[in-house]
Amino acid sequence: MDYKKEIAELIKNQLQTLSNANLEELTDLIDSIEQPADPKMGHFSYPCFKLAKTLRKAPPIIASETAESLLHGEIPPWLHSVEAVNGYLNFYLTRSFFAENVLKSVLTQTANYGSTNIGNGKTILIDYSSPNIAKHFHVGHLGTTVIGHALYNIFRFQGYETIGINYLGDWGTSFGKLLTAYLKWGKKEEIEQTGLAGLTDLYVKFHEESETDFSLEETARNWVVKMENGDEEGLAIWRWICQVSLQEYQKIYEMLGITFESYRGESYYNDKMAASVEELRSKNLLTESEGALVVDLEDYKMPPCLIVRSDGGTLYATRDITAACDRYNTYKFHKSLYVTGTEQKLHFSQFFKVLDLMGYSWAKDMVHINYGLFIFEAGKMSTRKGQVIKMADLLNEATSKTLDIIQEKSPNLENKEKVAEQVGIGAIIFNQLYNSRIKDVVFSWERMLNFEGETGPYVQYSHARACSVLEKAKSSTDFANFDVFSTDFAKYAEILTDDESFDVLRLIYNFPDKVIESAEKYEPFLISRFLVALAQAFNKFYNTHQILIGGDKQEARLLLLFVAKTVIANGLSLLGISAPLKM
Ligand code: ARG
Repeated sequence: MDYKKEIAELIKNQLQTLSNANLEELTDLIDSIEQPADPKMGHFSYPCFKLAKTLRKAPPIIASETAESLLHGEIPPWLHSVEAVNGYLNFYLTRSFFAENVLKSVLTQTANYGSTNIGNGKTILIDYSSPNIAKHFHVGHLGTTVIGHALYNIFRFQGYETIGINYLGDWGTSFGKLLTAYLKWGKKEEIEQTGLAGLTDLYVKFHEESETDFSLEETARNWVVKMENGDEEGLAIWRWICQVSLQEYQKIYEMLGITFESYRGESYYNDKMAASVEELRSKNLLTESEGALVVDLEDYKMPPCLIVRSDGGTLYATRDITAACDRYNTYKFHKSLYVTGTEQKLHFSQFFKVLDLMGYSWAKDMVHINYGLFIFEAGKMSTRKGQVIKMADLLNEATSKTLDIIQEKSPNLENKEKVAEQVGIGAIIFNQLYNSRIKDVVFSWERMLNFEGETGPYVQYSHARACSVLEKAKSSTDFANFDVFSTDFAKYAEILTDDESFDVLRLIYNFPDKVIESAEKYEPFLISRFLVALAQAFNKFYNTHQILIGGDKQEARLLLLFVAKTVIANGLSLLGISAPLKM
């Protein structure tokens, strides 16, 4: 039930009987209806200030006249009372009616509760993670991976066809160097054993040796040219290097539960860029600047976008322009998102503009989803200077630290290792998604793994707590096989009218809107914050009311536990976090 809509309808009817003034549209009314943070100020509230001009009356008078006339008429069953306070119309719901309404919605939809079909028939592309081949998957790619995955889930839940694209950085000058080093010092069997570590060592050796042996750089450059001209020897090694790298990345994606629809990386566009350059030329967008070809963007207050270097080489933007056209042709996207750090902001503004200048109306549908830095709290993470932190190490450390906590808290838990992985990794994801994207993420093990803080483990723990009570009561009730349609919800709803239950239900009622809002703003943190609030409300309920006391009271409270844990699990799954049943 859409209470805002119902309330707007009521207000409109009252106002029309009170005056014959031409009123604003219903949608305006709906948008003005608020949900006060403190339910004492009304469960819903409408500020009458906007109406003062049209009705030529002071807002407090409008409010009290409307309230009075409302109360004189027939009040719908869902509405308990209306009050006029300082120009606001405060609406109070009939709690039992509301409880019944929310319980039914969740129990009929369970894992789908909160989903919509807003996006049906539309495709959203999400270019995310996109690590650079032959380098370790390091924490620099944590943000894009985790934010991209959450958005992917959130849009999918809204009914969009979502396409995750891993635009692998699988081409560039570094491959020439790696190839040179590999042919000179590398051994296939060794790399097969050591994987990316071995490749990284070769890369380092190349740089050390080339300080004295100047021919190395030239050999590397030659390799790049040869490979661009289709040299099979070079390309075969390159393909193998990509495979070795992907094997390592795949392990990370498995740990995070991520799959991609497309792995079209940078190299895919090698032979397609010439056509883009030609197109830019024929559209008169290219100008020469110090031997290079650029698109002038002075009119848009941006530095020129480099398309072809003076030595004929293409650039990051050239490839992205080519890839964007390919993606539009393939998917006819509704929106195309790119998740990278804020430091790439200019690059995206530039090439989006170039596509716009090329006459592509869909350029306006491309969005750069930027995010802040990942900062280690000073002195808290031991890393040798200059050494990158590998994602695998971070995830493994989170798991082992969580395992220590579990050993202490619940030594008898089954599947400890598995749960520790779900909670440890969940903690890292949650930490990344707890603030608005553009804020820097400050990393602290203590804060992140605190089972009582505003953390992933806290939310997961609340879920597990609800599950364990439900498990204990399973002999009497099994909600998984619950017959929603033949149940007398009114009887139970009547019991769930206390403040704590009502708070839980109010939050649950708002979940679908939260999901919509987080999709509209591309902000997964709205869901993380929601989950903490729900977990807090749930724990307050849990600590205030006894549950396993038999009778209808027990059934009613178990129902509340069930809907709360269902919504927590749905929210966690949108963020890409598991919800273990026991912790
Ligand atoms: N590989 C790039 C990096 O690691 C990210 C690619 C982002 N996507 C894109 N279409 N430019 O920074």
